[in-house]
Amino acid sequence: MGIPISLWPMLFVAAFFGVYLRNGNVFPFLHKPELPIHLTNHPLRHYSDFVSVNLSHQLLDLVKEVQTYNTNSNDLVNLTRTYEHIGEAEPRLDNGMCRNSLHVPSKDGKMCHLPNRFDVAYHHMKYGGIEGMKEGYDTLASRIFTFGNYLFDLEKYPAMKEIFNEPKFIAAAKEVCPENRQFLDPYQYHLIIQVPGQALPVHIDAPFFTDASRFHYPIWLLAVMTASGLYKQTFIDQVQVVINLHEWTDPSVGGDFIYVPNNDVGPIFLPARPRSATVVDGSKVMHATKLYRPEAELPMLSRNKKNVLEYNKVDDTWELRSDGHLLQRYATDDLRITTVYRARCFESQAARDSYDAFLKNSSEENGIRPVAEIVAELKAELVRRKQVPASSLDKLSLDELAVTFVEEFIRYPVPQTWLPYNYCVLPKLYPILIPILSPLCTL
Ligand SMILES: [Fe+2]
Repeated sequence: MGIPISLWPMLFVAAFFGVYLRNGNVFPFLHKPELPIHLTNHPLRHYSDFVSVNLSHQLLDLVKEVQTYNTNSNDLVNLTRTYEHIGEAEPRLDNGMCRNSLHVPSKDGKMCHLPNRFDVAYHHMKYGGIEGMKEGYDTLASRIFTFGNYLFDLEKYPAMKEIFNEPKFIAAAKEVCPENRQFLDPYQYHLIIQVPGQALPVHIDAPFFTDASRFHYPIWLLAVMTASGLYKQTFIDQVQVVINLHEWTDPSVGGDFIYVPNNDVGPIFLPARPRSATVVDGSKVMHATKLYRPEAELPMLSRNKKNVLEYNKVDDTWELRSDGHLLQRYATDDLRITTVYRARCFESQAARDSYDAFLKNSSEENGIRPVAEIVAELKAELVRRKQVPASSLDKLSLDELAVTFVEEFIRYPVPQTWLPYNYCVLPKLYPILIPILSPLCTL
């Protein structure tokens, strides 16, 4: 006996939503990007075989020599900011938790406020990354706790010094700097490692302005400032050179560099081939990496624990530990490894020196604008764009205002899926939904 014809539409709808909710990626290119126009059509160069095989081996040895890598979310914890928050901070609860689920503990552990990359974390959780993953909060967080280490003294690392001083390298970096700003001011050398199952969420890099930087304000606010277009006059161009140091060659494992050039095309994927390089100003081009080895078992990394990836010379393996407890062991070839060179672009050495002096001497007492002044300017711009009375924004808490700033100004691209929202994070806010969503989600 067949199914009564009257039930067919209902079955069709049920099957449709089953496929839709489980996969969410049946049809591509459903949501055109809506990037701010001034963050589109910036140069990006990609070079195959940018580094020789010999130098690449030396660089990989250097990665092992550096040995210990903390999660990038814990990087620069020693950095002191003039303003840690925009005024949303509130005391931490007696049980050590933060009342607001968007907040994280402050540097001194006494308060809770929005995380430094609130813009990135908020978008990643809401949409499940550029792939539109439907996953719970803890899984998605573990995917982005990648590992890194900074090299401050290049004299200690001759291979690194060699590559960053090669004329070919300097020329490639200068191609991305504006023509009238060809003086490179390198400020950071970073080694980044992703274990299988990890990705870099879509973001713009921390920008610098002539009167503002990560030393003064939370980076999420600086990203909002960049995207708002209100501060173009004080924006400092920069360049990042990302070089792949791993030796695996199979493009099917993912890990591609992804960027969104403009609003007319979808995200562009550049395979993470060994020895290749990507050169871009990451503070004005939205970028990410594709999930690396998505099928791999992902170690769960709590942000409240000390997560360390460490090279073990004895057996040439890498050990991932969380509060000292061994979670996973990897071969070097299991890892996606890159080095990132970052430099600001100035008109001259004098301009660089003067900015250097500003960074060294600026403080709340010494010329840094109160954060409330910037918030007020962004609010005024919101009023203008949304054509709403200013009083309607006054009703918002500062946390709600931060969400509105990120949504309205930054506009990170949403996944190319029918339902771009990651409903699997809802149980974090509403535990009552766990039984309903657990069959559909990796919670
Ligand atoms: Fe970046």
